[in-house]
Amino acid sequence: MVVVGLLDGVFMFVADLSRDIEVPHVVDFVVASSYGANTVSSGNVKIKKDASASVRGKHVLIVDDICDSGRTLASLAELFRSREAASVRTCCLLDKTCRRVVDVQPDYVGAVIDDHFVVGYGMDWDAKYRSLPFIGIVKPHLYDPAARVEEGDDG
Ligand code: IMP
Ligand code: MG
Repeated sequence: MVVVGLLDGVFMFVADLSRDIEVPHVVDFVVASSYGANTVSSGNVKIKKDASASVRGKHVLIVDDICDSGRTLASLAELFRSREAASVRTCCLLDKTCRRVVDVQPDYVGAVIDDHFVVGYGMDWDAKYRSLPFIGIVKPHLYDPAARVEEGDDG
């Protein structure tokens, strides 16, 4: 079995998950990002760093921190299936089902969350806050000026 973590946000989750998986497995990592992170129209996912070893004939578990539009997990699952993995399953710690654009349902989900931007436990906002030992919700007015009036401005 190969656990394929999608960096960077997943590093803490994979560290904990790997220690809880009781069957022999190796851990590999991929760095993938959606083309044009802010454009909702793009369905392409770019591989910046590929897996180190072949997955041919192996059982693959793709692990991401968050499933948002679903593009990343859907694309990576398709990629590993095309590489003739024996099986491909997907896992995410947090699932924003309400934001789904692509028809994908992760096989293993830690928790379904509402449409919040979250940080901590490996997850970042502009590369910051990954090291927080908890998962926090970024107040909307910090990234969306329109939310300022409703949310207040207390940081
Ligand atoms: P998707 O391809 O749209 O499903 O995007 C999944 C990726 O978006 C995750 O691997 C994260 O890197 C990133 N992401 C989505 N929502 C959040 C969030 O709330 N906090 C941090 N990263 C996020
Ligand atoms: Mg990510």
